[in-house]
Amino acid sequence: METGKLKRTLSGEINESFTGSEFNLKGWVMHYRDHGGLIFIDLRDYAGIIQIVFDETVSKSSFNTAKKIKNEYVISVTGKVRIRPEGTENENLETGKIEIEAKNIEILNECEVLPFQIEEESETNELLRLKYRYLDLRRKKMKDNLIFRSNFNFLIREFLNKNGFFDIETPFLTKSTPEGSRDFLVPSRLNNGNFYALPQSPQLFKQILMISSFEKYYQIVRCFRDEDLRADRQPEFTQLDMEMSFIEQKDIMSLTEEMFAFVFDKLLNIKLNLPIKIMDYDEAMEIYGSDKPDTRFAMQLNTISDIFENSSLNVFKDCLSKKGVIKAICFKNGTDLLSRKDIDELLTVVKDFGGKGLAWTKVVAVEEKSKSDNCSDNNAENIYIQNCRLEGGIAKFVTEEEKNILIDRLGAENGDIIFYQADAKKTADIVLGRLRLYLAKKYNLIPDNKFDFLWVINFPLFEYSEEEKKIVAIHHPFTAPNIEDIELLDANPLIAKSQSYDLVLNGEEIGGGSIRIHKPELQAKIFEILSIKPGDARAKFGFLLDALSFGAPPHGGIAFGIDRVLMLLRKEDSIRDVIAFPKTQKAQCPLSDAPSEVKYEQLRELGIKVIEKNKHI
Ligand code: AMO
Repeated sequence: METGKLKRTLSGEINESFTGSEFNLKGWVMHYRDHGGLIFIDLRDYAGIIQIVFDETVSKSSFNTAKKIKNEYVISVTGKVRIRPEGTENENLETGKIEIEAKNIEILNECEVLPFQIEEESETNELLRLKYRYLDLRRKKMKDNLIFRSNFNFLIREFLNKNGFFDIETPFLTKSTPEGSRDFLVPSRLNNGNFYALPQSPQLFKQILMISSFEKYYQIVRCFRDEDLRADRQPEFTQLDMEMSFIEQKDIMSLTEEMFAFVFDKLLNIKLNLPIKIMDYDEAMEIYGSDKPDTRFAMQLNTISDIFENSSLNVFKDCLSKKGVIKAICFKNGTDLLSRKDIDELLTVVKDFGGKGLAWTKVVAVEEKSKSDNCSDNNAENIYIQNCRLEGGIAKFVTEEEKNILIDRLGAENGDIIFYQADAKKTADIVLGRLRLYLAKKYNLIPDNKFDFLWVINFPLFEYSEEEKKIVAIHHPFTAPNIEDIELLDANPLIAKSQSYDLVLNGEEIGGGSIRIHKPELQAKIFEILSIKPGDARAKFGFLLDALSFGAPPHGGIAFGIDRVLMLLRKEDSIRDVIAFPKTQKAQCPLSDAPSEVKYEQLRELGIKVIEKNKHI
């Protein structure tokens, strides 16, 4: 930095070592305090905040101009750096030891009365924040999030460029790709009656780039999905999309790990523990009831059907006779945390998760005294565990023998609560998995100082959709089956596994990909299993099928939800806080008022007539 010359300087560039030097600063007025002959301003620019002092005795005219200033005025100030008088330092500011003694000031622009204060502490309704997003983005947290995002993207590009990847853009006005959500459609004026779809992802184009021999592609790209929104979903979101030729699943996984290790090291100064843990889909469902398990805490699901084979409890008996399962979780110290009313209220929670009911029992020591007597002795502790009894809920239906095996298997102790689900395996897994997360979040059992990565692999290729009454692809229809499962495709496609992998961070799915089918015959077979008729397959994906028949290399890839990754790295609860201009839960933009009506002439040109309004179909 050149000192002494009056070019614009950022607050963050100045410190005590520049005492006596003169600088020009430009920015926004954050706080304004009038102390009679002295006016103090906190000036904010994108690099930070610095205190400016207007002293009537130093410059009368600047002092008089400063009197007109209000919060968020844009000003240009010239003055000398000086050390703050003892006792007036501000430890919360990086520039808290110094201040600028103003000589000149120019008001560059004024500011209306603010709809909300820019200070961090002030809680503001999110709709208002989104309507005045330019003000919201002046807040330190939001500004830091977006600068972090910019640095994150830069490092990703640096890593991928170094590793021989090409950044290639793919079209936004395209044909629908079946990612499983609704498409956003764009009417074509030049081809009246026809529509483009905004891409749900560049899936088919990146595969075609492999067939074009690019071998290593990436793109940081916007994707569009018209789905119901949640805290981790936006109608337009950003993917880091990648594809490679002549690779195997393990190569993509290790490249991903190196990439995250590089970014974590550079951006957060965190050394990731590699390799990342890997879990089979079946295991994830069995012990966490989720294909994106949060492994930062235990409370695992246990199958206990065998213990209750001869149970007198009708719900258990009926369930087992219908080939269902009985599963349980043990909520440690639950009796301290949950009142009887809380337990009863969990029934509603579980019903929302799709459960039919919620059985429970408390675990209570038979003799309280035995705990302190035995706690230093491991064997004795076992005896103590055996000396627990079950109380409340379904306790009276559990025999002594069932209880002993149950307590042993769950490692249950005095004060725990056991929750049970008896249902079809899939339902029992999902309901208990969601209850596990609900309890952990509500009672703060999740350590929030961890970045816990996990690969989930060996997903089934297909599942049966009750809603659509047909077999659907779990990832997408271009995912290759496990080689050894190809022969299952005719006889029992639902048990075939795929060469796909999801990356999970702290219980959020941050990415997913697969090895693709590169032979047209196998692709046609998959379409057939998915009940896509050959004519429809041609109409929808003819260009891919054609391309596959012109020398497609073996290839595969992955895509990461950048907004989700950033939400986790910045410890935010919603992806809206890492996106400059997000949409609301109703997919609206309060800033621009999109979506909005358009002129009749615009519609006529497109050959479109609105027949129903304000009706959500
Ligand atoms: P997938 O559909 O799993 O895969 O998407 C990849 C990742 O994108 C993120 N994501 C979203 N983020 C915010 N809002 C949404 N609405 C949203 N939907 C998805 C998730 C997800 O893991 N073409 C394939 C990838 C491939 O096979 O290479 C695809 O798009 O973090």
